[in-house]
Amino acid sequence: MKLALLLLIFFSVSMYEIASIREDDDRDLERQVQIMTKSPMKTFVTKEGDTIDCIEIDKQPALEHPLLKNHQIQTEPNVTFTRFRTPSNVKFVQLGLRESCPVGTVPIPRVRKEDLIRAKSVAKMPSSESQDALSQHVVSWRDEMTENIKYGGYGISNVYNLTLANDQVSSHNIWIETGPVNHINMIVAGWQVSPQLYGDTRPRLFTYWTGNGHRNGCYNMLCPGFVQVHRSITPGTLIDPSSIYDGPQFEVFIQIHQDPNRKNWWLTVGPPNTIIGYWPSELFLYLRNGSLHTAWGGVGLAGRDGACPPMGSGHKPDGNSRHATYFRDLLWVDATGLFHRPSTKIVVWVDKSKVYDLKKYGYRKRQMGYWISFGGPGGYCEGGMDGE
Ligand SMILES: *[C@@H]1O[C@H](CO)[C@@H](O)[C@H](O)[C@H]1NC(C)=O
Ligand SMILES: *[C@@H]1O[C@H](CO)[C@@H](O)[C@H](O)[C@H]1NC(C)=O
Ligand SMILES: *[C@@H]1O[C@H](CO)[C@@H](O)[C@H](O)[C@H]1NC(C)=O
Repeated sequence: MKLALLLLIFFSVSMYEIASIREDDDRDLERQVQIMTKSPMKTFVTKEGDTIDCIEIDKQPALEHPLLKNHQIQTEPNVTFTRFRTPSNVKFVQLGLRESCPVGTVPIPRVRKEDLIRAKSVAKMPSSESQDALSQHVVSWRDEMTENIKYGGYGISNVYNLTLANDQVSSHNIWIETGPVNHINMIVAGWQVSPQLYGDTRPRLFTYWTGNGHRNGCYNMLCPGFVQVHRSITPGTLIDPSSIYDGPQFEVFIQIHQDPNRKNWWLTVGPPNTIIGYWPSELFLYLRNGSLHTAWGGVGLAGRDGACPPMGSGHKPDGNSRHATYFRDLLWVDATGLFHRPSTKIVVWVDKSKVYDLKKYGYRKRQMGYWISFGGPGGYCEGGMDGE
């Protein structure tokens, strides 16, 4: 009897606590939504059902970040770049099939409370050479020549449709990262499939950033920080069409580079060269003047049942570029804006779970440039953590 009473008291206290935590959380999310919502000049809904608000460029939610109080919007990077070559047997995806925003405004995907709740259950983006949680599974190829300060990274990837469970995420990334593990500074861009972030299983252009060991930052434009410049393509835009195993291949190129004058990190995709926007240098402590590391590869985030999603084409690399996903024409950018092939000091990280693989194929002239291929079918992958 006494015990029952004690239990009753215990449970009512903890139920009360849970309820008040939920309420705090709820208020917090509402505050975030409020910060992210601006009065639009125009609103439209994409074919995929995403609601896009056109906001005056210098009133966009990015500027609500406390570090950007005095930030002056840039509309283009102070650097010129042109590069890309391609084998004749591939085509490029089409981006920007959506409507454009009027001149002077930029598209901002509408953020609702439900979007933030679903995004909360998506794990942060791990570093290219580690795994902080059992659910994260990384394969990567990283240039370890830290004598070369890198002011950018570039690569071309073939994009696939994937079938994923609701709580799985499959990403194909370029990483720019520097800093101590607990305060890692990271900029990531590439293509990703995530039912929780996008409400479907189609490949999307995506970004992720943190300026302080994942204490701040987010995917795409779910929080203030990334400054949108392009009038139709944003992080989160659908990539279409996609490649078919042993069939037609469709590629997208991804470039992240730091403007040598203003020090902002710009995102360019294509072809054709399309400047999407930038991460202001104020957001980063360790990426103010270049980066020590650039890496290319993939990340699978397992679902609650311990199953990893397929990555890439769903097939492990076998040397045939029409069978698995790749990044090709790998390049990094030096302080003067010149592009270089990777050094010979390389670290390859392959998750121990054996559901993915990564192969390096070196430089294959003209056709592919310097290339790596990676991915796999996924499947049960718990216990894949290093040292287990
Ligand atoms: C880039 O910056 C340099 C030095 O600040 C300046 O002289 C030049 O005009 C700028 N170029 C562009 C395209 O903004
Ligand atoms: C990818 O998925 C979309 C939507 O389900 C479909 O319309 C498209 O044909 C698929 N593409 C390929 C190459 O399977
Ligand atoms: C950035 O780093 C380079 C190379 O270490 C150095 O020469 C340059 O002065 C630095 N610039 C700034 C603004 O700190």
